[in-house]
Amino acid sequence: MTTRTFYIESFGCQMNAHDSEKVIGTLISKGYTQVDTPEKAELVLYNTCSIRDKAEQKVFHRLQQFKRDAGKGKVFGVLGCVAQQEGEKIFDRAPHVSLVAGSASYSKLPQMLVQLESGNRRVTGLSLDTDETFDTPFTRRDNPHRAYMTIIEGCDKSCAYCVVPFTRGPERSRTSASVIAEASQLAANGYTEIQLLGQNVNSYRDPSPVGWDFATLLARVAEVPGIRRVRFTTSHPRDFVKGIVDAIDANSVLCDHVHLPVQSGSTRLLRLMDRLYTRDEYLRRIEWLKNARRDISITTDIIVGFPGETEQDFGETVSLLDQVEYDSIFGFKYSRRPNTAALAMGDQIPEEEKTRRLMIVQEKQRAIQIRRNSETIGSVQEVLVEGRNQALGQWIGRTSQNRTLNFVRSVADSEALIGTYLPVRVTRAGPNSLVGESMV
Ligand code: SAH
Ligand code: SF4
Ligand code: F3S
Repeated sequence: MTTRTFYIESFGCQMNAHDSEKVIGTLISKGYTQVDTPEKAELVLYNTCSIRDKAEQKVFHRLQQFKRDAGKGKVFGVLGCVAQQEGEKIFDRAPHVSLVAGSASYSKLPQMLVQLESGNRRVTGLSLDTDETFDTPFTRRDNPHRAYMTIIEGCDKSCAYCVVPFTRGPERSRTSASVIAEASQLAANGYTEIQLLGQNVNSYRDPSPVGWDFATLLARVAEVPGIRRVRFTTSHPRDFVKGIVDAIDANSVLCDHVHLPVQSGSTRLLRLMDRLYTRDEYLRRIEWLKNARRDISITTDIIVGFPGETEQDFGETVSLLDQVEYDSIFGFKYSRRPNTAALAMGDQIPEEEKTRRLMIVQEKQRAIQIRRNSETIGSVQEVLVEGRNQALGQWIGRTSQNRTLNFVRSVADSEALIGTYLPVRVTRAGPNSLVGESMV
């Protein structure tokens, strides 16, 4: 059996999307060819997410669809967070799967495939002890202008609702030399935007004797010649220091955007969640951001319906939205996850009540975004041109503040505009995007 064509589908966060780029590059370097449907592929891979129950169910639905193809020369593999979490139990739930590997094992994928080809029916890579995935020379990036780069893997926090410490293991930082080398290589290959990734980038600590902290690394990456934009995600409020705001203020290559997940506006609930900060401590960080010289946009994640969330706790989340006036939020209904501390907590909130609370949050935030976005009307913003919407006759751009700014241009253009930077005047604003006219 030789499996030479592969299909991969990714679920979950940007770290997973980037992991898939590493897997794709590794497989191509070994002579595999990527195809665009599972039907055409001899090897079908799902890079999975386990953050909420719905995300976990997706992979089992997908596998179910192809149950009949088992034994017909198709090999199925489950990668990522569900793989790490469920391990060999996946073979019981979906017996036609023959490969299960967590994110720390991707550099060993070619060896695992050889084992399958030489007759092993089932192969696993589930160790979190070693991680050789930082320096991946074969990474096949999806976007020719904007590149993801992992700087820290895993998470040492233990938020009561979260599976990530179990699915990604303990924190491991990459050496600063390796980060700078990859950033320089990316610039040499024509990339102008870099997005630094980690579950908690703020706790980055250079393992080499240089010992840079995150703010220093950020400042240094922004100095790499050819790089015009640097973003980073995700920041944990507890480890978010003023030095990060100072770095943004000092170099406009660092984008005017910070994603600072709060989860809840109630200190009582934050304690139950084990988030390691109070509402006031969180608001102090927001103040640093608002007092910066640059106009930094702030976004967040909110969980509604965590066990024990009273009407009063929820009210404090709603009042926090008014107080901070986020530029955008991701709102989630609490989902019970395996292994987590909150699983055993009493006082679970009924599903309908979670839905009601999420709708309140989203309606409130929609009004805030309409107001925030309309404040940009008349301003001129630099966009990175990301694509074209033929139907609307518009170009799609992204501002430093991470807003989508669709715009028109009077000159006839070619696709070569994609990947360039242009000044655009904002003329209209909706809740989720802006519209404008190119200035040149
Ligand atoms: N490391 C990031 C979060 C990564 S997970 C941080 O600490 O902020 C992305 C988001 O998913 C979280 O911020 C949280 O809002 C949400 N999330 C995580 N576990 C969840 C769960 N069990 N139920 C609902 N939402 C969850
Ligand atoms: Fe999960 Fe908390 Fe770690 Fe974020 S900081 S990945 S929410 S445990
Ligand atoms: Fe999901 Fe794993 Fe990312 S659980 S959100 S893919 S770290």
